Amino acid sequence: MSRLPLAVANWKMHRTPDEAAVYAERFRERMAPHAADLDRRFEVAIAPPFPALDRLGRALSGSGLALAAQNVHPELEGAFTGEVSRGMLEALGCRYVLVGHSERRQLFGEDDAFVAAKVKGLVGSSVRPILCVGETLAERERDATLEVVGRQLGCVLDAVGDALGSRLVVAYEPIWAIGTGRTATPELAQAVHAGLRERLVDRLGGIGREIRILYGGSVKPANAGELLARPDIDGVLVGGASLDPDAFAAICTENA
Ligand code: PGA
Repeated sequence: MSRLPLAVANWKMHRTPDEAAVYAERFRERMAPHAADLDRRFEVAIAPPFPALDRLGRALSGSGLALAAQNVHPELEGAFTGEVSRGMLEALGCRYVLVGHSERRQLFGEDDAFVAAKVKGLVGSSVRPILCVGETLAERERDATLEVVGRQLGCVLDAVGDALGSRLVVAYEPIWAIGTGRTATPELAQAVHAGLRERLVDRLGGIGREIRILYGGSVKPANAGELLARPDIDGVLVGGASLDPDAFAAICTENA
């Protein structure tokens, strides 16, 4: 089973539209020597804040590099001040959207049911969800990692079943590794990915083997290769290091 590796840059709340355009120029320059058949070897997406989506989308046009958003509301439209719908992301040409990032869960109170509703809201959309799951340090220390990520994934599978097919992407991001410089070892990450894979296959059969599982949490050029070498690590979700176009390009090109 070959799964196309996927690297996603999560800029979080960084970069204006102008800064995004400058980034895109530099990033395209760095990717150019590898561009030939890149889309058959390695998929790359960038998730800027909402205000920079349009500008970045234009700056990436024709490059094969994909646009991603950081959040979406489950409803198609309505009185939801401050929120963004899937139709708006479709109109901007987003290929992916992050759903249930731990910062959304921890800082903005998103629970499993709300995250599942968001993923369900993307059934039939051209925008594909990247469902983020991950445990806190306390949960890891009491050996509850697989129980926690299994629950987070299970709620979503209960809501959507196989309706998204292999368009669903899962990202395992241990919360204790996000922005801390502490990466899970490749062995430790692979063990959790294998646990997630088992649950996906249990619930979805063959589709579960096609769904990509990304790793996120202090990924940088120096550790991306050893993570991506593991059998169930199908890509990376990169925060801090992705703000530097040279570093993100190195992660993509050195592993393509
Ligand atoms: P980090 O963030 O690479 O800065 O740890 C990853 C993420 O939160 O997606």
